[in-house]
Amino acid sequence: MQSIYDFSEDINMELLKNCSKMIKDGYTVVFPTETVYGIGTNALDKKAVKKIFRAKQRPLSKPLIVLISDYKMLRGIVKGVNKTEKKLMNKFWPGPLTIILHRTELIPDIVTGGSDTVGIRMTSSKIARNLIKYAKVPVVAPSANVSGRPSGTDISDIIEELDDKVDIMINNGPCEDSVESTIVEVINDTAVILRLGKISREDIEKMGIKTTLDDKILKMAEKCDKTLSYEAQYGPYVPNTKTILVETRNKEKFIKYVNSMLDDNLKVCVIGFEEYIGDFENTDVEFLSLGKDRDFDNISKNLFSALRKVDNLGVDVCYISSVEKKDIGTAIMNRLYRACGYNIIKI
Ligand code: TXA
Ligand code: MG
Repeated sequence: MQSIYDFSEDINMELLKNCSKMIKDGYTVVFPTETVYGIGTNALDKKAVKKIFRAKQRPLSKPLIVLISDYKMLRGIVKGVNKTEKKLMNKFWPGPLTIILHRTELIPDIVTGGSDTVGIRMTSSKIARNLIKYAKVPVVAPSANVSGRPSGTDISDIIEELDDKVDIMINNGPCEDSVESTIVEVINDTAVILRLGKISREDIEKMGIKTTLDDKILKMAEKCDKTLSYEAQYGPYVPNTKTILVETRNKEKFIKYVNSMLDDNLKVCVIGFEEYIGDFENTDVEFLSLGKDRDFDNISKNLFSALRKVDNLGVDVCYISSVEKKDIGTAIMNRLYRACGYNIIKI
């Protein structure tokens, strides 16, 4: 096992600076961000970046995003920033908004899968931002998980998955908001959302910026068309266990539906809200709570670790209850559609 530094109580600046040096020198480091844990290395070093693809078993065609610590770092790696992009940066940076920009040749092809754009974010995580600041280089930061698995939000899950595949890990305890960053690309002054995340469409629209959802998201959400979805093609968070999203905002209907599906020969698990626990108490159902219904922050925080637990329970089927498609709830539903591999029952 590689070294693990524990910064969950206190950040040890000496050790943090060691990690920065390692990043600069092309080693791979798992670290917390303001969203999920990332695996980072020097974005300007193509050999180092290749190690990240290997550790994640990720197809080379799927681009990595790049984190920066300040605007000075941005200057060398992108060709320019237009008014709308600047407005988004001023409002949401540092923070969980990744913006697709035109890259300069300083960013190696391997980072972007050959595309001439690169996704960039100024992180607001104190640990991540300092790591990058002292490394003095932009840092690639895909989520800390093997491709196709839920994003790593807890160090024990990450150790299990990436133990000997990275050089060092920094533990900061479980992530607070475990939905990945929102990704936008500004096209003709319109913010096109490529991935839903903590910053909602409403947040961007409130600034007077015209906003649309990328076709792939619309198709995923409305038609559940697997073949057209980029994320579904490369990284749906599908547990190995058969997982079904029961889409209803009515608690009684949900409970009634799951009960109607119970069978002595089937071991069942439910991922639902705290308010539902009592309804499953006297059954054999394994219940995983996401927290209170409508408490989006808590739900997003618990989501990925609940999904990971499903496969360890040894159940035959898992039913997931849905959240309201509003604000960050839309991003959570997007993750749930993917988690269930588009097995959805609308009741
Ligand atoms: O919150 C986050 O963004 C986390 C933290 C750790 O930084 N990272 C993360 O990275 O979620 P990853 O690699 O798991 O997801 C990045 C997504 C992928 O779906 C990738 O296809 C997309 O960003 N992406 C990266 N560069 C892109 C580009 N130039 N154009 C379009 N999509 C891009
Ligand atoms: Mg990921």
